[in-house]
Amino acid sequence: MSTNIETLPLNLSPSRLDVVRLVQVTDSHIFAEPEGCLLGLNTRTSFEAVCARVEREEWRPDALLATGDLAQDASPEAYKYLADYFHKMEIPSFWIAGNHDNPDAMEMYLSNGRVSAAKHLLMGHWQVILLDSSILDKVHGELNDSQLEFLEKSLTRHKDKHSLVVLHHQPVEVGSEWLDTIGLKNHQAFRRIIEKHNNVKAVLWGHVHQEFNKMIDGVRWIASPSSCVQFTPGSKDFSADSKAPGYRYLNLYSDGRIESVVHRIDNIEYTIDYTIKGY
Ligand SMILES: [Fe+2]
Repeated sequence: MSTNIETLPLNLSPSRLDVVRLVQVTDSHIFAEPEGCLLGLNTRTSFEAVCARVEREEWRPDALLATGDLAQDASPEAYKYLADYFHKMEIPSFWIAGNHDNPDAMEMYLSNGRVSAAKHLLMGHWQVILLDSSILDKVHGELNDSQLEFLEKSLTRHKDKHSLVVLHHQPVEVGSEWLDTIGLKNHQAFRRIIEKHNNVKAVLWGHVHQEFNKMIDGVRWIASPSSCVQFTPGSKDFSADSKAPGYRYLNLYSDGRIESVVHRIDNIEYTIDYTIKGY
Protein backbone atom coordinates (compact mmCIF):
# COMPACT_ATOMS: atom_id res chain seq x y z
CA MET A 1 0.00 0.00 0.00
CA SER A 2 1.33 3.44 -0.90
CA THR A 3 1.26 6.38 1.48
CA ASN A 4 2.01 10.06 1.28
CA ILE A 5 3.85 10.09 4.57
CA GLU A 6 6.98 11.64 3.12
CA THR A 7 5.17 14.52 1.41
CA LEU A 8 5.49 16.65 4.53
CA PRO A 9 3.92 19.11 5.04
CA LEU A 10 1.23 20.82 3.00
CA ASN A 11 0.84 24.49 3.90
CA LEU A 12 -2.65 25.95 3.74
CA SER A 13 -3.32 29.55 4.73
CA PRO A 14 -6.43 29.86 6.86
CA SER A 15 -8.85 32.53 5.67
CA ARG A 16 -8.53 34.29 9.06
CA LEU A 17 -5.32 34.39 11.07
CA ASP A 18 -6.90 33.59 14.43
CA VAL A 19 -9.00 30.58 13.41
CA VAL A 20 -8.80 27.56 11.13
CA ARG A 21 -12.22 26.38 9.96
CA LEU A 22 -12.67 22.72 9.09
CA VAL A 23 -15.56 20.56 8.03
CA GLN A 24 -15.66 16.79 8.54
CA VAL A 25 -17.82 14.76 6.17
CA THR A 26 -17.62 11.08 6.97
CA ASP A 27 -18.84 7.59 6.02
CA SER A 28 -20.56 8.58 2.80
CA HIS A 29 -20.66 4.91 1.64
CA ILE A 30 -21.01 5.83 -2.05
CA PHE A 31 -21.73 2.99 -4.51
CA ALA A 32 -20.60 2.65 -8.14
CA GLU A 33 -24.25 2.80 -9.20
CA PRO A 34 -26.01 6.16 -8.68
CA GLU A 35 -29.05 4.33 -7.32
CA GLY A 36 -26.97 2.53 -4.63
CA CYS A 37 -28.72 2.44 -1.23
CA LEU A 38 -27.56 1.58 2.28
CA LEU A 39 -30.43 0.25 4.43
CA GLY A 40 -32.84 1.83 1.98
CA LEU A 41 -31.19 5.28 1.91
CA ASN A 42 -29.65 6.49 -1.37
CA THR A 43 -26.16 7.44 -0.24
CA ARG A 44 -25.49 9.87 -3.11
CA THR A 45 -28.70 11.80 -2.38
CA SER A 46 -27.90 12.19 1.31
CA PHE A 47 -24.22 13.00 0.61
CA GLU A 48 -25.23 15.74 -1.82
CA ALA A 49 -27.76 17.15 0.66
CA VAL A 50 -25.08 17.22 3.37
CA CYS A 51 -22.54 18.91 1.06
CA ALA A 52 -25.16 21.46 -0.06
CA ARG A 53 -25.66 22.32 3.63
CA VAL A 54 -21.86 22.69 4.04
CA GLU A 55 -21.85 25.11 1.12
CA ARG A 56 -24.50 27.23 2.85
CA GLU A 57 -22.28 27.71 5.93
CA GLU A 58 -21.88 31.36 6.81
CA TRP A 59 -18.08 31.00 6.88
CA ARG A 60 -16.39 29.08 4.13
CA PRO A 61 -14.28 26.19 5.51
CA ASP A 62 -10.52 26.30 4.94
CA ALA A 63 -10.52 22.54 4.38
CA LEU A 64 -12.81 19.53 4.27
CA LEU A 65 -11.79 16.24 5.89
CA ALA A 66 -13.42 13.07 4.51
CA THR A 67 -12.72 10.52 7.22
CA GLY A 68 -13.19 7.12 5.63
CA ASP A 69 -15.81 4.73 4.30
CA LEU A 70 -16.05 7.18 1.44
CA ALA A 71 -17.15 4.34 -0.83
CA GLN A 72 -19.25 1.34 0.13
CA ASP A 73 -17.78 -0.82 -2.65
CA ALA A 74 -14.27 0.71 -3.14
CA SER A 75 -15.13 1.16 -6.82
CA PRO A 76 -13.34 3.56 -9.19
CA GLU A 77 -16.79 4.95 -10.11
CA ALA A 78 -17.54 5.88 -6.50
CA TYR A 79 -14.15 7.58 -6.04
CA LYS A 80 -14.40 9.44 -9.37
CA TYR A 81 -17.83 10.71 -8.35
CA LEU A 82 -16.46 11.88 -4.98
CA ALA A 83 -13.39 13.53 -6.55
CA ASP A 84 -15.60 15.47 -8.97
CA TYR A 85 -17.99 16.45 -6.21
CA PHE A 86 -15.31 17.67 -3.78
CA HIS A 87 -13.52 19.53 -6.59
CA LYS A 88 -16.75 21.32 -7.53
CA MET A 89 -17.25 22.45 -3.92
CA GLU A 90 -14.10 24.57 -4.23
CA ILE A 91 -12.90 23.62 -0.72
CA PRO A 92 -9.46 21.96 -0.39
CA SER A 93 -10.38 18.38 0.49
CA PHE A 94 -8.36 15.64 2.19
CA TRP A 95 -9.25 12.03 2.92
CA ILE A 96 -8.38 8.88 4.80
CA ALA A 97 -9.47 5.30 4.17
CA GLY A 98 -12.07 3.36 6.15
CA ASN A 99 -12.81 -0.35 6.31
CA HIS A 100 -14.98 -0.23 3.18
CA ASP A 101 -12.29 1.62 1.16
CA ASN A 102 -9.26 0.67 -0.87
CA PRO A 103 -6.40 3.13 -0.18
CA ASP A 104 -4.65 2.34 -3.48
CA ALA A 105 -7.79 3.08 -5.49
CA MET A 106 -8.25 6.26 -3.47
CA GLU A 107 -4.69 7.39 -4.25
CA MET A 108 -5.45 6.84 -7.92
CA TYR A 109 -8.80 8.59 -8.15
CA LEU A 110 -8.89 11.01 -5.21
CA SER A 111 -5.89 13.14 -6.00
CA ASN A 112 -6.73 15.85 -8.47
CA GLY A 113 -7.68 19.50 -8.50
CA ARG A 114 -8.74 20.56 -5.01
CA VAL A 115 -8.74 16.97 -3.73
CA SER A 116 -5.43 15.94 -2.21
CA ALA A 117 -3.94 12.72 -0.85
CA ALA A 118 -1.69 14.74 1.53
CA LYS A 119 -1.67 13.42 5.08
CA HIS A 120 -0.05 16.29 6.94
CA LEU A 121 -1.38 19.84 6.88
CA LEU A 122 0.04 22.97 8.42
CA MET A 123 -2.62 25.63 8.89
CA GLY A 124 -1.80 28.72 10.92
CA HIS A 125 -1.09 27.67 14.52
CA TRP A 126 -2.36 24.14 13.85
CA GLN A 127 -1.25 20.89 12.27
CA VAL A 128 -3.64 18.20 11.09
CA ILE A 129 -2.30 14.63 10.97
CA LEU A 130 -4.31 12.15 8.90
CA LEU A 131 -3.67 8.49 9.74
CA ASP A 132 -4.59 5.33 7.85
CA SER A 133 -6.13 2.82 10.28
CA SER A 134 -7.65 0.65 7.54
CA ILE A 135 -6.63 -2.97 6.98
CA LEU A 136 -7.68 -4.43 3.65
CA ASP A 137 -10.68 -6.80 3.99
CA LYS A 138 -10.99 -6.27 7.75
CA VAL A 139 -13.69 -4.30 9.54
CA HIS A 140 -11.63 -3.37 12.60
CA GLY A 141 -8.70 -0.98 12.38
CA GLU A 142 -5.02 -0.91 13.26
CA LEU A 143 -2.22 1.63 12.89
CA ASN A 144 0.89 -0.04 11.53
CA ASP A 145 4.39 0.92 12.66
CA SER A 146 4.91 3.46 9.90
CA GLN A 147 1.65 5.23 10.80
CA LEU A 148 2.61 5.34 14.50
CA GLU A 149 6.05 6.64 13.55
CA PHE A 150 4.50 9.27 11.28
CA LEU A 151 2.31 10.43 14.19
CA GLU A 152 5.21 10.51 16.65
CA LYS A 153 7.49 12.37 14.22
CA SER A 154 4.86 14.96 13.28
CA LEU A 155 4.05 15.71 16.92
CA THR A 156 7.75 16.03 17.77
CA ARG A 157 8.79 18.00 14.69
CA HIS A 158 5.96 20.51 15.05
CA LYS A 159 5.73 20.71 18.83
CA ASP A 160 4.90 24.43 18.56
CA LYS A 161 1.66 23.60 16.68
CA HIS A 162 -1.66 22.66 18.24
CA SER A 163 -2.53 19.28 16.78
CA LEU A 164 -5.64 17.59 15.47
CA VAL A 165 -5.16 13.85 14.87
CA VAL A 166 -7.60 12.19 12.46
CA LEU A 167 -8.27 8.49 11.75
CA HIS A 168 -11.22 6.30 10.74
CA HIS A 169 -11.57 3.82 13.60
CA GLN A 170 -12.46 4.84 17.15
CA PRO A 171 -9.44 4.74 19.52
CA VAL A 172 -11.68 4.95 22.62
CA GLU A 173 -14.81 2.99 23.42
CA VAL A 174 -18.00 4.75 22.37
CA GLY A 175 -20.27 2.58 24.57
CA SER A 176 -21.79 0.42 21.85
CA GLU A 177 -20.79 -3.22 22.23
CA TRP A 178 -20.89 -4.30 18.56
CA LEU A 179 -19.00 -1.16 17.43
CA ASP A 180 -16.42 -1.36 20.18
CA THR A 181 -15.33 -4.81 18.95
CA ILE A 182 -14.48 -3.29 15.55
CA GLY A 183 -12.59 -0.17 16.66
CA LEU A 184 -8.85 0.48 16.65
CA LYS A 185 -7.15 -2.73 17.86
CA ASN A 186 -3.89 -1.13 18.94
CA HIS A 187 -5.52 1.83 20.66
CA GLN A 188 -3.12 1.51 23.59
CA ALA A 189 -0.04 2.16 21.42
CA PHE A 190 -1.85 5.09 19.79
CA ARG A 191 -2.96 6.56 23.12
CA ARG A 192 0.53 6.25 24.60
CA ILE A 193 1.80 8.58 21.85
CA ILE A 194 -1.11 11.00 22.30
CA GLU A 195 -0.53 11.14 26.07
CA LYS A 196 3.19 11.82 25.59
CA HIS A 197 2.69 14.99 23.54
CA ASN A 198 0.95 17.95 25.13
CA ASN A 199 0.38 19.65 21.77
CA VAL A 200 -2.47 17.22 20.89
CA LYS A 201 -5.75 19.07 21.37
CA ALA A 202 -8.19 16.68 19.70
CA VAL A 203 -8.59 13.27 18.08
CA LEU A 204 -11.30 12.96 15.42
CA TRP A 205 -12.73 9.87 13.71
CA GLY A 206 -15.60 8.43 11.65
CA HIS A 207 -16.74 4.76 11.58
CA VAL A 208 -19.30 4.93 14.40
CA HIS A 209 -21.98 6.91 12.50
CA GLN A 210 -22.94 8.90 15.61
CA GLU A 211 -21.95 11.95 17.59
CA PHE A 212 -19.39 11.51 20.39
CA ASN A 213 -17.57 14.25 22.27
CA LYS A 214 -15.56 13.59 25.41
CA MET A 215 -12.72 15.42 27.13
CA ILE A 216 -10.07 13.04 28.54
CA ASP A 217 -6.97 14.49 30.24
CA GLY A 218 -7.08 17.73 28.28
CA VAL A 219 -7.65 16.08 24.89
CA ARG A 220 -11.02 16.23 23.11
CA TRP A 221 -12.09 12.88 21.57
CA ILE A 222 -14.67 13.37 18.83
CA ALA A 223 -16.79 11.30 16.44
CA SER A 224 -19.45 12.47 14.03
CA PRO A 225 -22.60 11.42 12.21
CA SER A 226 -22.36 9.78 8.82
CA SER A 227 -23.55 11.61 5.72
CA CYS A 228 -25.93 8.64 5.26
CA VAL A 229 -27.30 6.13 7.81
CA GLN A 230 -26.80 6.63 11.59
CA PHE A 231 -26.11 3.96 14.22
CA THR A 232 -27.94 4.00 17.57
CA PRO A 233 -25.72 5.15 20.46
CA GLY A 234 -25.36 2.66 23.30
CA SER A 235 -26.74 -0.32 21.36
CA LYS A 236 -25.47 -3.83 22.13
CA ASP A 237 -26.03 -5.15 18.59
CA PHE A 238 -26.16 -3.51 15.19
CA SER A 239 -28.95 -0.94 15.16
CA ALA A 240 -29.79 1.84 12.70
CA ASP A 241 -30.85 5.14 14.24
CA SER A 242 -33.60 7.42 12.94
CA LYS A 243 -31.45 10.57 13.28
CA ALA A 244 -30.79 12.59 10.12
CA PRO A 245 -27.52 12.56 8.15
CA GLY A 246 -25.03 15.23 9.14
CA TYR A 247 -21.48 16.57 9.34
CA ARG A 248 -19.23 18.35 11.81
CA TYR A 249 -17.88 21.87 11.80
CA LEU A 250 -14.68 22.68 13.74
CA ASN A 251 -13.17 26.07 14.54
CA LEU A 252 -9.56 25.70 15.66
CA TYR A 253 -8.38 28.85 17.44
CA SER A 254 -4.82 30.09 17.61
CA ASP A 255 -4.73 29.65 21.41
CA GLY A 256 -5.55 25.91 21.06
CA ARG A 257 -9.27 26.17 21.80
CA ILE A 258 -11.72 24.19 19.68
CA GLU A 259 -15.34 25.00 18.94
CA SER A 260 -17.19 22.19 17.25
CA VAL A 261 -20.80 21.52 16.33
CA VAL A 262 -22.68 18.82 14.45
CA HIS A 263 -25.16 19.96 11.83
CA ARG A 264 -27.85 17.63 10.54
CA ILE A 265 -29.91 18.09 7.41
CA ASP A 266 -33.68 18.30 7.57
CA ASN A 267 -34.60 18.58 3.92
CA ILE A 268 -34.38 14.95 2.85
CA GLU A 269 -37.13 12.36 2.63
CA TYR A 270 -36.08 8.75 3.19
CA THR A 271 -37.13 5.53 4.85
CA ILE A 272 -34.53 3.47 6.65
CA ASP A 273 -35.01 -0.29 6.34
CA TYR A 274 -34.68 -1.28 10.01
CA THR A 275 -35.07 -4.96 9.20
CA ILE A 276 -31.48 -5.06 7.88
CA LYS A 277 -29.09 -6.17 10.61
CA GLY A 278 -25.72 -5.14 9.26
CA TYR A 279 -23.94 -2.91 6.81
FE1 LIG B 1 -19.06 3.60 7.88
